[in-house]
Amino acid sequence: MFILLMGPPGAGKGTQADLLAEKCGVPHISTGDMFRAAVKAGTELGKEAKRYMDTGQLVPDAVTIGIIRESLSKKENQKGFILDGFPRTKEQAAALDGLLAELSVKLDAVIDIHVPGTELINRITGRRICKACGANYHALYNPPRADGICDKCGGVLYQRDDDRETTVKKRIEVYNEQTKPLIEYYSRHGQYTELDGTKGIKEVFAAILAILSSKKTHDNL
Ligand code: AP5
Ligand code: MG
Ligand code: ZN
Repeated sequence: MFILLMGPPGAGKGTQADLLAEKCGVPHISTGDMFRAAVKAGTELGKEAKRYMDTGQLVPDAVTIGIIRESLSKKENQKGFILDGFPRTKEQAAALDGLLAELSVKLDAVIDIHVPGTELINRITGRRICKACGANYHALYNPPRADGICDKCGGVLYQRDDDRETTVKKRIEVYNEQTKPLIEYYSRHGQYTELDGTKGIKEVFAAILAILSSKKTHDNL
């Protein structure tokens, strides 16, 4: 099962990728998560990425393509994956095509999650993340049982540095300019499906499972 989840910031890519990864036992590969891990570890990559992330800009293609190349070179990522947040530019899409061809892999589904701008801002500004395990919550839409504490591991919840309203607006602008044009690129791909992402988390997940089962991508569906 090789799946690409597309959509603007806050559309629910990470939330749905986590649910799918859990259900199907396939790795969730998120360039945003990889950059945040590098920032946390204080590596050179993290220092470089942080400069761009904090202002809502994209990290340069050469860097981003490099980390995806490294990730897809790992055996555990070659049996299937859910790709979230990559590609985001035409150069990245071309690089992904090349990497998939090298691995003799074809994408089984390209799912583009659509959510309007005002709702994206509500979702992102209410998002809270566990410092320890990375689990994703929303103050209103998906609250933890105890305020500020992760249900899964008891870790402390925090707000991403780039989730403040001015940076969010910039990220949406950058999405519209640089990433949205990829819809045309992927709509020519036989496996492209547009999905209404405005419903609740469970409904959107059910709709994704229905798409995947119509494509018979995995025995567990
Ligand atoms: P990245 O981490 O990928 O952020 P993003 O694309 O901006 O997307 P988000 O993670 O904000 O949103 P999401 O779609 O995952 O939504 P989520 O499920 O969390 O990238 C961050 C930065 O890293 C970039 O700005 C860039 O600098 C850099 N970067 C990353 N990849 C790059 C690349 N390829 N090239 C260059 N630079 C790159 O949901 C959001 C909230 O809504 C959560 O609180 C959730 O609980 C809630 N929610 C989710 N679904 C629903 C629902 N159906 N109903 C109600 N609430 C919901
Ligand atoms: Mg995400
Ligand atoms: Zn946790």
